[in-house]
Amino acid sequence: MLSLTGIQADIGGSRILRGFDLEAAGGQVVCLMGRNGVGKTTTLRTIMGLLPLRDGTITLAGEPLDGLRTDQRALRGIGYVPQGRDIFPHLTVEENLQIGLVVHRRGRASDAASLERVYTLFPVLKSMLARKGGVLSGGQQQQLAIARALLTQPKLLMLDEPTEGIQPSIIDEIGDTIKRLKSDSGLTILLVEQYVDFCREVGDQFYAMDRGTVVASGPISDLTDDVVKRHLQV
Ligand SMILES: Nc1ncnc2c1ncn2[C@@H]1O[C@H](COP(=O)(O)OP(=O)(O)OP(=O)(O)O)[C@@H](O)[C@H]1O
Ligand SMILES: [Mg+2]
Repeated sequence: MLSLTGIQADIGGSRILRGFDLEAAGGQVVCLMGRNGVGKTTTLRTIMGLLPLRDGTITLAGEPLDGLRTDQRALRGIGYVPQGRDIFPHLTVEENLQIGLVVHRRGRASDAASLERVYTLFPVLKSMLARKGGVLSGGQQQQLAIARALLTQPKLLMLDEPTEGIQPSIIDEIGDTIKRLKSDSGLTILLVEQYVDFCREVGDQFYAMDRGTVVASGPISDLTDDVVKRHLQV
């Protein structure tokens, strides 16, 4: 579904992504891991077209993404939940969700059906439609951000540290949601995550990054304590 080859990207004249490959096959949960500042978010931003690709190729379902704007990449089927969630705090939950629907204009009946699907995944949102996004708990905001991304009808969902700063019971719910999205809709998920046990719980494959490149990868069963100690632990 997603294929990165030799990708390089710069920020402010410094090389941040130093050329690496990554594959996410259809219906898989691929964990992109690594310590703070190694380039995980930069990778997602580059895939999304928020940062120019200096070298290498990015393809989605076999089609290269070069030259496409961020909104065009969203239309091609990439849903992106940024680190820190980026919901609109002064808009209501319902208004935040409407923003996801804007990506594809499909008419009221189809929108209502899409909304019902996300309310089934996140019942808490349905009970909070009139609340301002900013008053929700961190976990509810994360659920709102995932729901909004799902309303863009992605083939590939990219989540940037969805467990960061979230209480354990909600982390479990988010893990269940990821598994359900995989089993029910065959969604491909690229999950940036530092929480190792969470990756072991939901992931199929992992890539460990260090200083802008991939230093270990494989099926999640290869994410041994030794790999964790060498590449991931602070
Ligand atoms: N806007 C920016 N200006 C300058 N340097 C930046 C900027 N954004 C990121 N960087 C640098 O790029 C490198 C990679 O950052 P990135 O945000 O991709 O890391 P990360 O792996 O997502 O880290 P974290 O786990 O802390 O979110 C870091 O060294 C960071 O300081
Ligand atoms: Mg980051």
